[in-house]
Amino acid sequence: MGYKIINKVKLNDTVTKMVVLAPNVARHAKAGQFIILKVDEVGERIPLTINDTDKEKGLVTIIYQIVGLTTKKLDKLNIGDEIMDFVGALGKPTNLDNVTRALVIGGGVGSAIAYPICKALFEKGVYVDGLLGFRNKDLIIQYDEFKSHTNNLYIYTDDGSNGNKGFVTTDLAKLIDENKYDEVFVIGPLIMMKMVSLITKEKGVKTTVSMNPLMIDGTGMCGCCRVVVDGVMKFACVDGPDFDGHKINFDEMILRNKMYQEIERKKYSDNCNLFKK
Ligand code: FES
Repeated sequence: MGYKIINKVKLNDTVTKMVVLAPNVARHAKAGQFIILKVDEVGERIPLTINDTDKEKGLVTIIYQIVGLTTKKLDKLNIGDEIMDFVGALGKPTNLDNVTRALVIGGGVGSAIAYPICKALFEKGVYVDGLLGFRNKDLIIQYDEFKSHTNNLYIYTDDGSNGNKGFVTTDLAKLIDENKYDEVFVIGPLIMMKMVSLITKEKGVKTTVSMNPLMIDGTGMCGCCRVVVDGVMKFACVDGPDFDGHKINFDEMILRNKMYQEIERKKYSDNCNLFKK
């Protein structure tokens, strides 16, 4: 028996929110953890961060961007359909101890991962500001959710279409100076996490990044989710996904991601008509 889709909402042209009935996952899930799903018997396994849970109803919310074969396949499912495997909650929960003033930064669809951290901190009574970046205003997701779980919410768009042109890094140094955050949490594209971490390092603010590399088994066995932290190889699936942003070797990750994306692009564009659509 699979995991029934209870709700499905299109957040924008390429991002979908799905609510899945998975009581065991919902019961144990904490902010920062993820699931690995497999759409059907021949599908590949993909990790997706848990965006929200309803522990009483046993529901788990995931948000995904339609970027490859598996997310395309997933997006073809509708309310009432079932996902074959939905395993979790995996990874270590985000450590929210000893935080009194936090800044939570999300870039693009990474904001879906940033939200549960915001929510958990806010519900603990921590002072939380949210800082989100999107390419344009049509891509902004979960505005109401962030708004109701932050003390201040700052949203920048690359093209300024929401009236606030810039990137999450544009006023970051100023925000840190003014608000004296004791921890910054950041989730988004690798280059964004690298740039944020450089600024926060200079400012001496503890920084936690959530890494979301390619994963296969999710149990520390296959080695494909490796991340170099302080010169030591770690596995995002069991040692993370959160790591100290000041110790991650972002350049190595960026290079590896580029190679992987090129292999994937070639694999699907050579063999799969679905991918070309
Ligand atoms: Fe295989 Fe992490 S996904 S080691």
